[in-house]
Amino acid sequence: MSEVLQADGPAAGEAILSAREVVREFRMGRSTIRVLRGVSLEVRRGEMISVMGASGAGKTTLLNILGGLDRPTGGRVFFGGEDLYRLSSRRRTVLRAQRVGFVFQAYHLLPELDVLENVLLPAMALGGRAGTYSALRRRAEELLLSVGLGDRARHRPAELSGGEQQRAALARALMNDPEIIFADEPTGNVDSETGEQVLGNLFRLVKERGHTLVLVTHNREIAVRCGRTLHLRDGRIVDEEVHGGGEV
Ligand SMILES: Nc1ncnc2c1ncn2[C@@H]1O[C@H](COP(=O)(O)OP(=O)(O)O)[C@@H](O)[C@H]1O
Ligand SMILES: [Mg+2]
Repeated sequence: MSEVLQADGPAAGEAILSAREVVREFRMGRSTIRVLRGVSLEVRRGEMISVMGASGAGKTTLLNILGGLDRPTGGRVFFGGEDLYRLSSRRRTVLRAQRVGFVFQAYHLLPELDVLENVLLPAMALGGRAGTYSALRRRAEELLLSVGLGDRARHRPAELSGGEQQRAALARALMNDPEIIFADEPTGNVDSETGEQVLGNLFRLVKERGHTLVLVTHNREIAVRCGRTLHLRDGRIVDEEVHGGGEV
């Protein structure tokens, strides 16, 4: 539990996130493509869920909508009881910064900042609310240690390997002690051994710290390490598999 922010969401096992008939269309010139055609799902606190689907199925679109990054064309998303897209964009931004962590396939570290500064960024987004600079810096350094990058804090992202950059991105996602972490094919850009290190860190930290995880992957071996797998096809969740107990 962080000294920085105290989560006050629902208790373990209760729904932390729910989507109701989410639709997302994109207008392309005169035509409209309907990527999500009514997705409903519920994520309970402390769960690890994977989302599978072919390339182009809408996995990233869904993750962005669930995480407050992209407004759906229809339907609703509730986060800890808040109707996410009925909040003002300012309140949604604060909610996202405090309670949501993202890990992207392509890391998205800022190249001109060093690793420590990248990890600190989410706390900076909260201004003074996140804590004193020295406490935040200590937390960022601890997070870097916990992902095996204690000695890389002052390096720029370009000086790190892909797997190291992704572990830095994981530390950044954890900086504000989010209730839920969305990881979008986090091992999609690294070889399988390096991917295993990234996943090992991700699963361990999610478990140790009691986060909730929604993980997009097209790798079945990875998907089944979560407690449940949702399958996205033709804009809908067409299947749900429950796995024995979840990973490590
Ligand atoms: N901003 C956008 N504008 C237009 N089309 C988009 C946009 N974002 C995604 N799409 C389209 O939506 C579909 C699903 O994309 P995406 O969610 O990235 O799939 P996945 O992550 O499952 O590979 C694709 O056909 C993609 O081209
Ligand atoms: Mg994608």
